[in-house]
Amino acid sequence: MNLFDSTLKGDESVFLDETALDFEYLPHIIKYRENQQKYIAECIKPLFQQRNGKNLLVTGSPGIGKTAATKFVLRELEEKGLDEEIFPIYINCWKKDTAYKIVLEICDKLKYKFTQGKHTSELIKDITKLLNKKPVVLVLDEVDKLQDMQILYLILEDLNKKTLILITNELEFLSNIDNRIRSRLIPEFLEFKPYNFEETYGILKQRVDYGFAKNIFNENALRLISEKTHEKADIRSGIYLLKETGLIAENESSKLILESHALRAIEKLKDIKIESSEKRKNTFLNLIKENSGKTCFELFTLYRQMGGKKSYKTFTRRINILVDKGFATKKEIQVGTGKSSIIEYNLKI
Ligand SMILES: Nc1ncnc2c1ncn2[C@@H]1O[C@H](COP(=O)(O)OP(=O)(O)OP(=O)(O)O)[C@@H](O)[C@H]1O
Ligand SMILES: [Mg+2]
Repeated sequence: MNLFDSTLKGDESVFLDETALDFEYLPHIIKYRENQQKYIAECIKPLFQQRNGKNLLVTGSPGIGKTAATKFVLRELEEKGLDEEIFPIYINCWKKDTAYKIVLEICDKLKYKFTQGKHTSELIKDITKLLNKKPVVLVLDEVDKLQDMQILYLILEDLNKKTLILITNELEFLSNIDNRIRSRLIPEFLEFKPYNFEETYGILKQRVDYGFAKNIFNENALRLISEKTHEKADIRSGIYLLKETGLIAENESSKLILESHALRAIEKLKDIKIESSEKRKNTFLNLIKENSGKTCFELFTLYRQMGGKKSYKTFTRRINILVDKGFATKKEIQVGTGKSSIIEYNLKI
Protein backbone atom coordinates (compact mmCIF):
# COMPACT_ATOMS: atom_id res chain seq x y z
CA MET A 1 0.00 0.00 0.00
CA ASN A 2 1.30 3.40 -0.99
CA LEU A 3 1.68 5.99 1.80
CA PHE A 4 -1.03 8.14 0.22
CA ASP A 5 -3.53 5.38 -0.61
CA SER A 6 -5.75 6.14 2.36
CA THR A 7 -5.82 9.86 1.61
CA LEU A 8 -8.75 11.38 -0.29
CA LYS A 9 -7.79 13.33 -3.37
CA GLY A 10 -9.43 16.65 -4.22
CA ASP A 11 -12.47 15.39 -6.13
CA GLU A 12 -12.94 12.12 -4.22
CA SER A 13 -15.59 11.51 -1.59
CA VAL A 14 -16.36 8.82 0.96
CA PHE A 15 -20.03 9.19 -0.01
CA LEU A 16 -21.58 7.23 -2.83
CA ASP A 17 -25.03 8.81 -2.48
CA GLU A 18 -25.37 11.38 0.29
CA THR A 19 -29.17 11.63 -0.17
CA ALA A 20 -29.43 8.08 1.22
CA LEU A 21 -28.43 9.64 4.55
CA ASP A 22 -31.32 12.12 4.61
CA PHE A 23 -34.10 11.44 7.12
CA GLU A 24 -36.71 11.66 4.33
CA TYR A 25 -34.97 9.12 2.09
CA LEU A 26 -37.18 6.06 1.58
CA PRO A 27 -35.11 2.89 1.04
CA HIS A 28 -36.07 0.27 -1.57
CA ILE A 29 -36.85 -2.17 1.21
CA ILE A 30 -38.11 -1.39 4.69
CA LYS A 31 -36.75 -4.33 6.62
CA TYR A 32 -38.26 -5.67 9.88
CA ARG A 33 -41.59 -3.93 9.29
CA GLU A 34 -43.05 -6.49 6.89
CA ASN A 35 -45.86 -7.44 9.28
CA GLN A 36 -46.84 -3.84 9.85
CA GLN A 37 -46.86 -3.18 6.08
CA LYS A 38 -49.10 -6.22 5.60
CA TYR A 39 -51.44 -4.97 8.30
CA ILE A 40 -51.70 -1.56 6.63
CA ALA A 41 -52.33 -3.22 3.26
CA GLU A 42 -55.09 -5.37 4.80
CA CYS A 43 -56.91 -2.24 5.91
CA ILE A 44 -56.79 -0.87 2.37
CA LYS A 45 -57.69 -4.08 0.49
CA PRO A 46 -61.51 -3.88 0.84
CA LEU A 47 -61.37 -0.68 -1.24
CA PHE A 48 -60.43 -2.75 -4.27
CA GLN A 49 -63.59 -4.81 -3.85
CA GLN A 50 -65.78 -1.72 -3.81
CA ARG A 51 -66.24 -2.06 -0.05
CA ASN A 52 -65.33 0.45 2.62
CA GLY A 53 -61.77 0.23 3.94
CA LYS A 54 -60.76 0.01 7.58
CA ASN A 55 -59.45 3.04 9.42
CA LEU A 56 -56.17 2.67 11.24
CA LEU A 57 -54.41 4.36 14.15
CA VAL A 58 -50.64 3.87 14.04
CA THR A 59 -48.76 4.66 17.25
CA GLY A 60 -45.21 4.35 18.55
CA SER A 61 -42.23 6.39 19.71
CA PRO A 62 -40.19 8.64 17.36
CA GLY A 63 -37.81 7.32 14.73
CA ILE A 64 -38.95 3.70 14.54
CA GLY A 65 -40.31 3.48 11.00
CA LYS A 66 -44.00 4.46 11.25
CA THR A 67 -43.79 7.01 8.44
CA ALA A 68 -41.35 4.96 6.38
CA ALA A 69 -43.48 1.78 6.52
CA THR A 70 -46.71 3.64 5.68
CA LYS A 71 -45.14 5.57 2.81
CA PHE A 72 -43.72 2.33 1.51
CA VAL A 73 -47.22 0.85 1.24
CA LEU A 74 -48.41 3.95 -0.67
CA ARG A 75 -45.41 3.72 -2.98
CA GLU A 76 -46.22 0.05 -3.66
CA LEU A 77 -49.74 1.08 -4.64
CA GLU A 78 -48.35 3.60 -7.09
CA GLU A 79 -45.71 1.26 -8.48
CA LYS A 80 -48.29 -1.43 -9.14
CA GLY A 81 -50.45 1.14 -10.93
CA LEU A 82 -53.18 0.68 -8.32
CA ASP A 83 -53.44 4.44 -7.93
CA GLU A 84 -55.56 4.25 -11.09
CA GLU A 85 -58.24 2.59 -8.97
CA ILE A 86 -57.87 4.56 -5.75
CA PHE A 87 -56.51 7.94 -4.59
CA PRO A 88 -53.54 7.52 -2.22
CA ILE A 89 -52.92 10.80 -0.36
CA TYR A 90 -50.23 11.42 2.26
CA ILE A 91 -50.22 14.60 4.36
CA ASN A 92 -47.95 15.57 7.24
CA CYS A 93 -49.95 17.57 9.77
CA TRP A 94 -46.83 19.08 11.31
CA LYS A 95 -46.51 21.02 8.06
CA LYS A 96 -50.24 21.28 7.23
CA ASP A 97 -51.83 21.87 10.60
CA THR A 98 -55.17 23.52 9.73
CA ALA A 99 -58.23 22.32 7.85
CA TYR A 100 -57.61 24.95 5.17
CA LYS A 101 -54.00 23.89 4.58
CA ILE A 102 -55.01 20.24 4.41
CA VAL A 103 -57.77 20.93 1.95
CA LEU A 104 -55.45 23.04 -0.22
CA GLU A 105 -52.91 20.24 -0.16
CA ILE A 106 -55.54 17.73 -1.29
CA CYS A 107 -56.58 20.14 -4.09
CA ASP A 108 -52.96 20.33 -5.13
CA LYS A 109 -52.62 16.53 -5.18
CA LEU A 110 -55.81 16.25 -7.22
CA LYS A 111 -54.48 19.00 -9.52
CA TYR A 112 -57.65 20.98 -8.80
CA LYS A 113 -56.89 24.60 -9.63
CA PHE A 114 -60.08 26.54 -8.78
CA THR A 115 -59.09 27.41 -5.23
CA GLN A 116 -58.69 31.20 -5.43
CA GLY A 117 -60.81 33.13 -2.91
CA LYS A 118 -62.68 30.04 -1.71
CA HIS A 119 -63.31 29.22 1.95
CA THR A 120 -62.48 25.89 3.50
CA SER A 121 -66.11 24.73 3.42
CA GLU A 122 -66.47 25.50 -0.32
CA LEU A 123 -63.21 23.72 -1.07
CA ILE A 124 -64.32 20.72 0.98
CA LYS A 125 -67.45 20.47 -1.15
CA ASP A 126 -65.37 20.65 -4.33
CA ILE A 127 -62.87 17.99 -3.31
CA THR A 128 -65.53 15.69 -1.87
CA LYS A 129 -67.12 15.52 -5.32
CA LEU A 130 -63.79 14.71 -6.90
CA LEU A 131 -62.67 12.24 -4.24
CA ASN A 132 -65.92 10.33 -4.25
CA LYS A 133 -65.25 9.22 -7.82
CA LYS A 134 -62.80 6.63 -6.47
CA PRO A 135 -62.00 5.12 -3.07
CA VAL A 136 -59.45 7.14 -1.05
CA VAL A 137 -56.53 6.20 1.19
CA LEU A 138 -55.77 9.28 3.24
CA VAL A 139 -52.76 9.23 5.56
CA LEU A 140 -52.57 12.02 8.14
CA ASP A 141 -49.12 11.73 9.67
CA GLU A 142 -48.36 13.46 13.01
CA VAL A 143 -52.10 13.93 13.31
CA ASP A 144 -51.81 15.19 16.92
CA LYS A 145 -50.34 18.42 15.47
CA LEU A 146 -53.62 19.18 13.73
CA GLN A 147 -55.09 22.35 15.23
CA ASP A 148 -58.60 21.67 14.09
CA MET A 149 -59.82 18.09 14.48
CA GLN A 150 -63.16 18.95 12.83
CA ILE A 151 -61.62 18.17 9.46
CA LEU A 152 -61.49 14.53 10.58
CA TYR A 153 -65.22 14.60 11.16
CA LEU A 154 -65.87 16.00 7.68
CA ILE A 155 -63.61 13.45 6.03
CA LEU A 156 -65.33 10.62 7.91
CA GLU A 157 -68.79 11.95 7.12
CA ASP A 158 -68.42 13.07 3.52
CA LEU A 159 -66.14 10.52 1.89
CA ASN A 160 -67.82 7.32 0.77
CA LYS A 161 -65.19 4.62 0.39
CA LYS A 162 -62.05 5.30 2.32
CA THR A 163 -59.28 4.18 4.62
CA LEU A 164 -58.13 6.91 6.97
CA ILE A 165 -54.70 6.22 8.45
CA LEU A 166 -53.71 8.39 11.41
CA ILE A 167 -50.12 8.30 12.68
CA THR A 168 -49.06 9.69 16.04
CA ASN A 169 -46.59 9.38 18.94
CA GLU A 170 -49.32 10.29 21.40
CA LEU A 171 -50.72 7.19 22.99
CA GLU A 172 -53.61 9.18 24.38
CA PHE A 173 -54.54 10.69 21.01
CA LEU A 174 -57.80 8.82 20.66
CA SER A 175 -58.98 9.73 24.13
CA ASN A 176 -58.45 13.42 23.39
CA ILE A 177 -60.66 13.65 20.34
CA ASP A 178 -64.31 14.45 20.16
CA ASN A 179 -66.76 11.58 20.70
CA ARG A 180 -68.48 12.32 17.40
CA ILE A 181 -65.20 11.78 15.56
CA ARG A 182 -64.21 8.75 17.61
CA SER A 183 -67.48 6.96 17.03
CA ARG A 184 -67.12 7.42 13.27
CA LEU A 185 -63.46 6.52 13.16
CA ILE A 186 -63.54 3.17 15.02
CA PRO A 187 -59.99 2.37 13.98
CA GLU A 188 -57.86 -0.73 13.94
CA PHE A 189 -54.72 -0.27 16.05
CA LEU A 190 -51.16 -0.82 15.00
CA GLU A 191 -48.41 -0.20 17.53
CA PHE A 192 -44.79 -0.01 16.40
CA LYS A 193 -42.25 -1.22 18.97
CA PRO A 194 -38.61 -0.03 18.98
CA TYR A 195 -36.08 -2.13 17.05
CA ASN A 196 -33.77 -4.54 18.84
CA PHE A 197 -29.99 -4.29 18.39
CA GLU A 198 -29.75 -6.66 15.39
CA GLU A 199 -32.53 -4.81 13.59
CA THR A 200 -30.95 -1.43 14.34
CA TYR A 201 -27.64 -2.73 13.02
CA GLY A 202 -29.32 -4.19 9.90
CA ILE A 203 -31.04 -0.90 9.05
CA LEU A 204 -27.85 1.12 9.50
CA LYS A 205 -25.80 -1.42 7.51
CA GLN A 206 -28.28 -1.00 4.67
CA ARG A 207 -27.80 2.79 4.83
CA VAL A 208 -24.02 2.37 4.78
CA ASP A 209 -24.34 0.26 1.62
CA TYR A 210 -26.53 2.87 -0.05
CA GLY A 211 -24.72 5.95 1.20
CA PHE A 212 -20.99 5.18 1.22
CA ALA A 213 -18.33 3.99 -1.21
CA LYS A 214 -17.71 0.23 -1.04
CA ASN A 215 -15.60 -1.32 1.74
CA ILE A 216 -14.55 1.88 3.45
CA PHE A 217 -16.81 1.85 6.52
CA ASN A 218 -15.04 0.07 9.35
CA GLU A 219 -17.11 -2.68 10.95
CA ASN A 220 -16.34 -1.58 14.52
CA ALA A 221 -17.35 1.99 13.67
CA LEU A 222 -20.71 0.70 12.46
CA ARG A 223 -21.12 -1.42 15.61
CA LEU A 224 -20.41 1.57 17.85
CA ILE A 225 -22.96 3.67 15.97
CA SER A 226 -25.53 0.86 16.12
CA GLU A 227 -25.06 0.51 19.88
CA LYS A 228 -25.58 4.24 20.42
CA THR A 229 -28.62 4.22 18.15
CA HIS A 230 -30.11 1.22 19.93
CA GLU A 231 -29.58 3.00 23.24
CA LYS A 232 -31.44 6.05 21.88
CA ALA A 233 -34.13 3.82 20.31
CA ASP A 234 -34.39 6.23 17.37
CA ILE A 235 -33.04 5.37 13.91
CA ARG A 236 -32.68 9.08 13.12
CA SER A 237 -29.80 9.33 15.61
CA GLY A 238 -28.10 6.50 13.71
CA ILE A 239 -28.56 8.13 10.33
CA TYR A 240 -27.23 11.40 11.75
CA LEU A 241 -24.21 9.54 13.17
CA LEU A 242 -23.44 7.77 9.88
CA LYS A 243 -23.42 11.04 7.97
CA GLU A 244 -21.50 12.94 10.63
CA THR A 245 -18.89 10.15 10.81
CA GLY A 246 -18.46 10.38 7.03
CA LEU A 247 -18.05 14.14 7.18
CA ILE A 248 -15.46 13.90 9.98
CA ALA A 249 -13.49 11.36 7.92
CA GLU A 250 -13.69 13.57 4.84
CA ASN A 251 -12.58 16.57 6.83
CA GLU A 252 -9.41 14.65 7.65
CA SER A 253 -9.09 13.65 3.98
CA SER A 254 -9.34 10.02 5.09
CA LYS A 255 -10.51 7.48 2.52
CA LEU A 256 -11.46 5.07 5.28
CA ILE A 257 -14.09 5.61 7.93
CA LEU A 258 -12.65 4.53 11.24
CA GLU A 259 -13.73 3.87 14.81
CA SER A 260 -12.12 7.16 15.89
CA HIS A 261 -14.35 9.10 13.47
CA ALA A 262 -17.45 7.35 14.81
CA LEU A 263 -16.43 8.10 18.40
CA ARG A 264 -16.13 11.80 17.60
CA ALA A 265 -19.54 11.84 15.93
CA ILE A 266 -21.06 10.11 18.98
CA GLU A 267 -19.44 12.72 21.22
CA LYS A 268 -21.06 15.43 19.08
CA LEU A 269 -24.50 13.81 19.36
CA LYS A 270 -24.54 14.75 23.07
CA ASP A 271 -24.69 18.45 22.21
CA ILE A 272 -27.36 18.41 19.53
CA LYS A 273 -31.01 17.65 19.31
CA ILE A 274 -32.20 15.38 16.53
CA GLU A 275 -34.91 17.85 15.53
CA SER A 276 -37.71 15.75 14.25
CA SER A 277 -37.76 13.47 17.26
CA GLU A 278 -37.10 15.95 20.06
CA LYS A 279 -39.81 18.35 19.07
CA ARG A 280 -42.56 15.97 19.93
CA LYS A 281 -41.13 13.83 22.68
CA ASN A 282 -43.00 15.13 25.67
CA THR A 283 -46.48 13.81 25.51
CA PHE A 284 -48.52 14.28 28.62
CA LEU A 285 -49.20 10.63 29.15
CA ASN A 286 -45.54 9.67 28.82
CA LEU A 287 -44.72 12.35 31.37
CA ILE A 288 -47.14 10.80 33.86
CA LYS A 289 -46.01 7.29 32.97
CA GLU A 290 -42.37 8.14 33.68
CA ASN A 291 -43.11 10.19 36.80
CA SER A 292 -46.08 8.43 38.32
CA GLY A 293 -46.76 9.57 41.91
CA LYS A 294 -45.55 13.16 41.53
CA THR A 295 -47.80 16.15 42.21
CA CYS A 296 -49.42 18.00 39.37
CA PHE A 297 -47.17 20.99 39.97
CA GLU A 298 -44.03 18.84 40.00
CA LEU A 299 -45.12 17.34 36.69
CA PHE A 300 -45.69 20.83 35.31
CA THR A 301 -42.19 21.89 36.41
CA LEU A 302 -40.73 18.85 34.63
CA TYR A 303 -42.83 19.60 31.56
CA ARG A 304 -41.47 23.14 31.42
CA GLN A 305 -37.89 21.92 31.94
CA MET A 306 -38.41 19.64 28.94
CA GLY A 307 -39.35 22.65 26.82
CA GLY A 308 -43.17 22.49 27.16
CA LYS A 309 -44.81 25.82 26.37
CA LYS A 310 -48.36 25.48 27.67
CA SER A 311 -49.61 27.43 30.70
CA TYR A 312 -50.28 25.74 34.03
CA LYS A 313 -54.00 26.07 33.40
CA THR A 314 -53.85 24.33 30.01
CA PHE A 315 -51.46 21.77 31.44
CA THR A 316 -53.83 20.81 34.28
CA ARG A 317 -56.72 20.66 31.81
CA ARG A 318 -54.82 18.13 29.69
CA ILE A 319 -53.96 16.10 32.80
CA ASN A 320 -57.61 16.19 33.89
CA ILE A 321 -58.72 14.85 30.50
CA LEU A 322 -56.39 11.88 31.00
CA VAL A 323 -57.77 11.37 34.51
CA ASP A 324 -61.35 11.51 33.17
CA LYS A 325 -60.52 8.96 30.50
CA GLY A 326 -59.08 6.60 33.11
CA PHE A 327 -55.45 6.77 31.96
CA ALA A 328 -54.39 8.24 35.30
CA THR A 329 -55.75 8.75 38.80
CA LYS A 330 -55.65 11.90 40.85
CA LYS A 331 -55.43 11.89 44.65
CA GLU A 332 -55.94 15.04 46.68
CA ILE A 333 -53.47 15.40 49.55
CA GLN A 334 -53.09 18.00 52.29
CA VAL A 335 -49.86 20.03 52.07
CA GLY A 336 -49.53 22.44 55.00
CA THR A 337 -52.67 24.53 54.90
CA GLY A 338 -53.29 23.92 51.19
CA LYS A 339 -54.10 21.00 48.93
CA SER A 340 -52.13 19.30 46.22
CA SER A 341 -52.90 16.54 43.71
CA ILE A 342 -50.85 13.40 43.20
CA ILE A 343 -51.07 11.96 39.68
CA GLU A 344 -50.59 8.27 39.14
CA TYR A 345 -50.31 6.38 35.91
CA ASN A 346 -53.10 3.88 35.49
CA LEU A 347 -52.85 1.81 32.38
CA LYS A 348 -50.10 -0.40 31.08
CA ILE A 349 -50.25 0.75 27.49
N1 LIG B 1 -37.01 -0.63 8.87
C1 LIG B 1 -36.38 0.43 8.36
N2 LIG B 1 -35.62 0.29 7.25
C2 LIG B 1 -34.96 1.36 6.75
N3 LIG B 1 -35.02 2.60 7.24
C3 LIG B 1 -35.76 2.80 8.35
C4 LIG B 1 -36.48 1.72 8.95
N4 LIG B 1 -37.14 2.20 10.04
C5 LIG B 1 -36.84 3.51 10.11
N5 LIG B 1 -36.01 3.87 9.09
C6 LIG B 1 -35.47 5.21 8.84
O1 LIG B 1 -35.35 5.89 10.07
C7 LIG B 1 -35.78 7.24 9.98
C8 LIG B 1 -36.94 7.47 10.94
O2 LIG B 1 -38.05 6.66 10.54
P1 LIG B 1 -39.53 7.25 10.41
O3 LIG B 1 -39.43 8.63 9.82
O4 LIG B 1 -40.37 6.27 9.71
O5 LIG B 1 -39.88 7.35 11.95
P2 LIG B 1 -41.28 7.57 12.65
O6 LIG B 1 -41.58 6.34 13.45
O7 LIG B 1 -42.28 8.04 11.66
O8 LIG B 1 -40.89 8.72 13.67
P3 LIG B 1 -41.71 10.03 14.14
O9 LIG B 1 -42.74 9.54 15.10
O10 LIG B 1 -40.65 10.85 14.83
O11 LIG B 1 -42.27 10.68 12.92
C9 LIG B 1 -36.18 7.45 8.52
O12 LIG B 1 -35.10 8.04 7.85
C10 LIG B 1 -36.44 6.05 8.00
O13 LIG B 1 -36.17 5.94 6.63
MG1 LIG C 1 -43.01 9.95 11.25
